[in-house]
Amino acid sequence: MATAASKNSTLPWVEKYRPTKIDEIVGNADAVERLAAMAATGNVPNLIFSGPPGIGKTTSILCLAHTLLGPAYKDAVLELNASDDRGIDVVRNKIKMFAQKKVTLPPGRHKIVLLDEADSMTSAAQQAMRRTMEIYSNTTRFALACNASEKIIEPIQSRCAIVRFTRLSDQEVLERVMKVVEKEEVPYVPDGLEAVVFTADGDMRQALNNLQATHSGFGYVNQENVFKVCDQPHPQVISDMLTHCLRGNVDDAYDRIKFLYAAGFSAMDIIGTVYRVTKNFNSEAMPEFVKLEFIREIGFMHMRVGDGVNSLLQMAGLCAKLCKVVECAKAGILR
Ligand SMILES: Nc1ncnc2c1ncn2[C@@H]1O[C@H](COP(=O)(O)OP(=O)(O)O)[C@@H](O)[C@H]1O
Ligand SMILES: [Mg+2]
Repeated sequence: MATAASKNSTLPWVEKYRPTKIDEIVGNADAVERLAAMAATGNVPNLIFSGPPGIGKTTSILCLAHTLLGPAYKDAVLELNASDDRGIDVVRNKIKMFAQKKVTLPPGRHKIVLLDEADSMTSAAQQAMRRTMEIYSNTTRFALACNASEKIIEPIQSRCAIVRFTRLSDQEVLERVMKVVEKEEVPYVPDGLEAVVFTADGDMRQALNNLQATHSGFGYVNQENVFKVCDQPHPQVISDMLTHCLRGNVDDAYDRIKFLYAAGFSAMDIIGTVYRVTKNFNSEAMPEFVKLEFIREIGFMHMRVGDGVNSLLQMAGLCAKLCKVVECAKAGILR
């Protein structure tokens, strides 16, 4: 975490608080441990980092490269991300030239080519890379980051060790957010931070961006302000809707959905929040069995919405189904 960072700096917090050392990376303990071991021994294979956005893939690669190479970083690392041209010519020329370049490094260290968001490279460019990877394997290592490792062609996958990252837990996000809140002296109430964590859904980048946006927009982090900034359906409305379903009040439940629909949220936004609120719903108010059945219905609705059937009528159908689940549970009818 940046020390003595000036409070007025306009740097986005995601950059200001980007970890610079491997041990500052939060979450994904197994993956991080593996990286620490690689950094300690210098024994690094070609690597693919895969996982959803905002959880530390790019950060991990950068930390690893800095730890391995220290001051030699600027000569011994070629960084290419999605905004650089990475077509077949670049692979043939730039990457190859870098691989051939002579750089004096401590024994056992290699030059590193960092390919961020590698899944956006065309497969032709990836194909062109596989030979380079092999020919220069005694001097150069490749580290790729991507959201979906399936988008990396098989021959490259088989030349790499895959390090998988998963979403961070709410607790991990919250702890990091708390540290930033303290450093930046952000005025907040606890439910504001909870809202930041909720809207981020395990994505640390989003959590820090939402925190900063709320802070600079309103100067105060509470639930209301966070949801205004994030433009997500307010979970309280969804929670009310679910409570009405639990009581069998289908009309009132439908009113809440209609309200969100009229506010301009898409069926996909709504269903995503319905899922997350259900998942976290107080287990006394919603017994386990009911919760599982709810999630099953929500899953089906998610599928339909994904297929393009995103009408208000479908959402009304969801309310009806959820009410029915509760009625069946009460009557002791199991499916
Ligand atoms: N595991 C993490 N620990 C600490 N900060 C993180 C972590 N993951 C993401 N961040 C924060 O989010 C920002 C974006 O992370 P990044 O590594 O670029 O994500 P991605 O997985 O999309 O490559 C970082 O600058 C950092 O501030
Ligand atoms: Mg990244």
